[in-house]
Amino acid sequence: MSRGMAQARHQAPKGTFDVLPDQERARALIFDHGAEILDAAGYGRIETPVFEDTALFERGVGESTDIVRKEMFTFEDQGGRSLTLRPEGTAPICRAYVEHGMHKLVQPVRLWYWGPYFRYERPQEGRYREFNQIGAEAVGTDSPQADAELIVLLDELLRGLGIDDAELRLSSLGQPEARVAYRERLRDYLREHESELSDDVRSRLDTNPLRAFDADHEGTRAVMAEAPTMLDSLDEADAEHLASVRRMLDDAGVPYRLDGTLVRGLDYYTRTVFEFTCDRLGSQSGLGGGGRYDGLIEQLGGPPTPGVGWAAGIERILLAMREAPPNRIPDAFVISADGDTERAFHVALALRRARLATRTDLAGRSFKNQMKQADRCGAGFAVILEEGGTVQLRDMGSGEQREVAEADLAEEIAAGA
Ligand code: HAM
Repeated sequence: MSRGMAQARHQAPKGTFDVLPDQERARALIFDHGAEILDAAGYGRIETPVFEDTALFERGVGESTDIVRKEMFTFEDQGGRSLTLRPEGTAPICRAYVEHGMHKLVQPVRLWYWGPYFRYERPQEGRYREFNQIGAEAVGTDSPQADAELIVLLDELLRGLGIDDAELRLSSLGQPEARVAYRERLRDYLREHESELSDDVRSRLDTNPLRAFDADHEGTRAVMAEAPTMLDSLDEADAEHLASVRRMLDDAGVPYRLDGTLVRGLDYYTRTVFEFTCDRLGSQSGLGGGGRYDGLIEQLGGPPTPGVGWAAGIERILLAMREAPPNRIPDAFVISADGDTERAFHVALALRRARLATRTDLAGRSFKNQMKQADRCGAGFAVILEEGGTVQLRDMGSGEQREVAEADLAEEIAAGA
């Protein structure tokens, strides 16, 4: 075949990736660790569909956010419905809370989740178009204790994975009424400095002036360094809520930095917002974040119900983890000295049924090469099946080798493992 006729090779779509077996181990570790601490705190796992009605995100996440304006994978199905691959998990969970009448359950309802999310962003290390989140939400409580509980859980999740240099930033956006007044104040301030701002910030002065805190544009950053923050404008109830969260974080020994310039890319937040960042990750430093969303469920057509939660990016956590978990080392490698593959199958099966991690050769390798394989994979023991039915058990560490009855193999290996 000439080169011109060679078929184009397929590649994973831009911004997506395959998770290969040697990478899966670290992800499973995050899942298991997350499941353990969230389960212990009373959070039950929930799964929602990967796509939802587009309107859910338009309403829930907010029309003026980057996510809704330019990052959604939206498509029409065969029946003419507008659907969107979920860009985040909180709006779907609130949808499910209302749909299943969860307000009738004992409150709050504590939920956690794990799965893929989709945003049409410019891909780079730590930023993908399909990525994964682990998240937790406590729905049906306005207690600052829930905010503190959730923040401590995320801190514990990261620390338990060896990430001990993440910084926690904390702020409060207040309740909507106070925020309206603050937004006016901020808008006035920005108008005074309009000529120094980026086009993007200027075009969103009316809809979303807070996003100016997030800008990369140098002129805008200089203006924002002097801008009034919501923290200075909290009313008494909001200020006390924040103070209570802070006292509980102090009690838990979780350090944080109060930062009035912290803005989150979603519109539903009220009062507490927070984010864990890790400088080592460069520009995509956000490991996970969240906050309170006391108006979201009502906005989605449910009864007035406060809530708070967070989500963390699995791929960012992986980048921040200093050590990859070791691969599972096999307990035994079953070696056939006489090429009797069925006997090797039989012995390996028995060991696996005894819950021992067991490997065998499937490529018809010579005895010497099977020994090499056993050595290379770090197996604790080689089980050598000899001609005539005898079995030698070789301790790969010490090199000590002795004959063992086939029926005693599992017990002997378990004792030495
Ligand atoms: P978020 O800050 O948009 O919040 O996303 C949470 C985390 O997901 C980020 O901190 C980051 O680690 C990860 N992430 C976001 N976008 C990408 C991307 N394109 N590639 C890789 N990782 C990414 C939320 O999604 C809210 N639902 C969190 C929340 C829950 N608030 C209240 N409850």
